[in-house]
Amino acid sequence: MFQAQTIIEPFRVKVVEPLPLPTREERRAALAAASFNLFSVPADKVTIDLMTDSGTSAMSQEQWAAMMRGDESYAGARSFYRFREAVEDLTGMRHIIPVHQGRAAEKILFTVTGGPDRKVPANTHFDTTRANVEHTGAEAVDLVIEEGRRPETEHPFKGNIDTERLDEFLAAHPGRVPLVVLTVTNNSGGGQPVSLANIRAAREICHRHGVPLFLDCARFAENAWFIRAREEGQAGRSPAEIAREMFRLADGCWMSSKKDAFGNIGGFLAMNDDGLAAECRNLLILTEGFPTYGGLAGRDLEALAVGLREVLDEHYLEYRIRSTAYVWEHLDRAGVPLLRPAGGHAVYLDARAFLPQVPPEELPGQTVSVALYLEGGIRSVEIGTVMFGRTRPDGRQQPGMMDLVRLAIPRRVYTQSHMDYVIEAVRYVFERRDRYRGFRIDFEPPELRHFTCTFAPLGWDPLAE
Ligand code: F0G
Repeated sequence: MFQAQTIIEPFRVKVVEPLPLPTREERRAALAAASFNLFSVPADKVTIDLMTDSGTSAMSQEQWAAMMRGDESYAGARSFYRFREAVEDLTGMRHIIPVHQGRAAEKILFTVTGGPDRKVPANTHFDTTRANVEHTGAEAVDLVIEEGRRPETEHPFKGNIDTERLDEFLAAHPGRVPLVVLTVTNNSGGGQPVSLANIRAAREICHRHGVPLFLDCARFAENAWFIRAREEGQAGRSPAEIAREMFRLADGCWMSSKKDAFGNIGGFLAMNDDGLAAECRNLLILTEGFPTYGGLAGRDLEALAVGLREVLDEHYLEYRIRSTAYVWEHLDRAGVPLLRPAGGHAVYLDARAFLPQVPPEELPGQTVSVALYLEGGIRSVEIGTVMFGRTRPDGRQQPGMMDLVRLAIPRRVYTQSHMDYVIEAVRYVFERRDRYRGFRIDFEPPELRHFTCTFAPLGWDPLAE
């Protein structure tokens, strides 16, 4: 019997969008105008946009068809009930609160539960999660396992939380921890999964200390696929079955549905606690909208309801994880330093090892990102000192835990030849790595600085490259 070795894209293309092909001169001008911040570069000056997998998915024909059924009633729209049913079916949670995107859920949840003196442990907080926790005066604490802090270490579940430290932490701060967060997959830690065993252990510890466990579940389906592929005893189960179990171990969750629901916008907050849900709904009405639409159009709710089911398709998930691993393997073979093993939604370059001549204070991740854009028109995102470090009173940078460059792969958007182009461009930059020097930040806002800060090169002229 024919057994294909090639895992093909399990879809064909019905609508096409032209790819921008700016010249090198245009890319130089865009970089100068953006003061080297890739968030300020217009998308039509980007050839392959790997800045994020968020909101960038191609929707399916079923999602587009469902959008036509969008009910735009202010209260009690049909679309809300369809959305609620899909989320309920997946999470089993009692209260389902739609929001316009993940950070809106974070803002609401932590406004209710955070505050000065509060501490929120997680495996690793995503940047908006951390910012929303800290905005309330609470402290966001990352307790990922030791292996998860080192890019070169191999471990099947590098997103796991360190359960021993979690137990000690909860014992040390009784009454101060409103909830514990598991980010699945662990985006800031390299798109690495959390095992079912770890979720179960975290639940047991949380419940012993009387603290609820929440999942930040933007990429729950990719996490479920990794559990099936890597965790003992899980191989025979469907991703849907595994995902349901993940959610049933938690007391609440929130989702940026711009990821594993193939949404271009959307999210939700879900939980079992009636009192907490009532408080969250009050805030929702203040900032997002009535609880049956939460800042979304009815048609968005329809698209998400379909997407949440589609994403658990085994052929899709096999292709998704395999296509990320494809890029990872080619770069690994070329000697490019990578966070190991391959993540679900992205390949992460280890910028400290990529550019050993650029110390963390001089922003090696930012440097690699600029080089990739200049050479290949590829937009990536730094996940390192720019995103998670801070400027000390003496003006020097306090480095982040790692300096990574994330090549996030939008869902169902780029083909294998696009990825071959990316591989070629990264290899080209890597071969010329000795010529690059770093950057300093010459302007930054008080919070989430990476979105709007500006940069100046240190002792080199990237525009002369
Ligand atoms: N949690 C995780 C794990 C995320 O990855 C994101 C967003 C959010 C929460 C916030 O959701 O963007 O809908 O408000 N991550 C995007 C990224 C932005 O590029 O990784 P949002």
